[in-house]
Amino acid sequence: MARVGILSLGLLLAGQLAAQSECSNDEDNLLSWLRANGGYAHIHVENVTVDALRGVVAATDVKEGDSLALLPDDLIIEMGTQRHSSAENAAVLLGKQTKDAQWHNRMSRYWDGLPGMNSGLLCRHLFTEHEAAMLQSESMKEEIEQDQEHLRQVFHGTAKWWETLLGLGPRASLVKELGVQHNVTLQAFAHAACLVGAYAFACQRGTWPFHYSAICLLPVMDMLNHRAGNASNAIVDQNKNGSYSCHAKRAIQAGEEVTQTYSQVTSRMDHSLLQYGFVEEHGEPLLAAVDSATGFEHEDDSLYGKHAHLTGPEELKRLQGILESLETTEEQDRALLTDARRRGDGREEDILRFRIQRKVALKQMIERLQRGLVMRQASSSARQEL
Ligand SMILES: *[C@@H]1O[C@H](CO)[C@@H](O)[C@H](O)[C@H]1NC(C)=O
Ligand SMILES: *[C@@H]1O[C@H](CO)[C@@H](O)[C@H](O)[C@H]1NC(C)=O
Ligand SMILES: *[C@@H]1O[C@H](CO)[C@@H](O)[C@H](O)[C@H]1NC(C)=O
Ligand SMILES: *[C@@H]1O[C@H](CO)[C@@H](O)[C@H](O)[C@H]1NC(C)=O
Repeated sequence: MARVGILSLGLLLAGQLAAQSECSNDEDNLLSWLRANGGYAHIHVENVTVDALRGVVAATDVKEGDSLALLPDDLIIEMGTQRHSSAENAAVLLGKQTKDAQWHNRMSRYWDGLPGMNSGLLCRHLFTEHEAAMLQSESMKEEIEQDQEHLRQVFHGTAKWWETLLGLGPRASLVKELGVQHNVTLQAFAHAACLVGAYAFACQRGTWPFHYSAICLLPVMDMLNHRAGNASNAIVDQNKNGSYSCHAKRAIQAGEEVTQTYSQVTSRMDHSLLQYGFVEEHGEPLLAAVDSATGFEHEDDSLYGKHAHLTGPEELKRLQGILESLETTEEQDRALLTDARRRGDGREEDILRFRIQRKVALKQMIERLQRGLVMRQASSSARQEL
């Protein structure tokens, strides 16, 4: 029997999702556990990229609209609300594990499958100072520092005096959940917060008419990789009875990877890197939110075509200034990426991929604005000649 209580926190944190070679056993365990609890999943877990990134492939051919997986309501893991941070949700989760040993034990198949401390998981809570500096962005570095400071507050259960005064302290803390005697390390807690941030879904809980929104972990459903919009072929949805289903958006063949779109904000690569630890490679990437004049708020760069001040010489100069201020060129980053790949440093790879995509996006927008300005000049001189 698995150890329960705080000790088996180790189970949650030292799971083996990243140890690819032994996946079939864990996978059988997970899928038979799901079946034993009234759910199903017609999928296999496999290496889906040359870099051995794991993902889920369809076990059989499925038609558009077919159900690929069902997760019963009582396997859903509810944490805090939408207003809780990932760190606060992690504290709530670790508290639940400690307080309800029976439930914790029942869910052990799921905990076992989560990426462990040595899996190379990367997100805002796990960036080292060196890695944060490698991003070549002061504002991302500041964001990371703030999030890590917040994580320490939640860990220690402390708040700044003015936050306490205004009732803005952490909504949950590890000390409150586990007592002062707990032996979770800050590093293990940061790992848990990162995991929760990358894996959790927004969910509806409660029974009619007492519904409320929460943040939940959805075993199995959370193994699908992300693809943007139309490139994804499945959708994860909550059913009326609270359970979750995964449906095919179009026909999927056996062996084909099953993917879903995590959230619109992933379209900005800096957000996807800090929240989920990946950078999707696009032929025409969007500007990073830190560079875009519109920030995170828009899921595409089309505003650039719609507003005169975003197509003028000032904006062109601003973007050129950013590109010139970056310490390396795209070519240098590509060479560094090749080297990181050779060394098998997945975290550095992600950061370099971000730097490259960011530069590609900047160059692309600069060219677009230059073309637009040339055309504007041409048409205004044509008007003058008339
Ligand atoms: C997946 O990748 C890992 C790590 O590179 C490797 O050990 C394993 O054999 C691969 N599994 C499959 C099924 O290709
Ligand atoms: C962690 O703390 C618990 C009591 O809360 C104790 O039983 C356990 O031995 C500790 N584990 C380690 C590895 O120190
Ligand atoms: C997505 O697919 C729909 C329907 O096939 C299509 O109308 C739409 O233009 C596509 N969107 C993108 C961004 O490709
Ligand atoms: C809940 O709804 C789903 C989808 O409609 C269905 O497949 C499942 O059997 C239902 N579960 C229960 C316990 O009624």
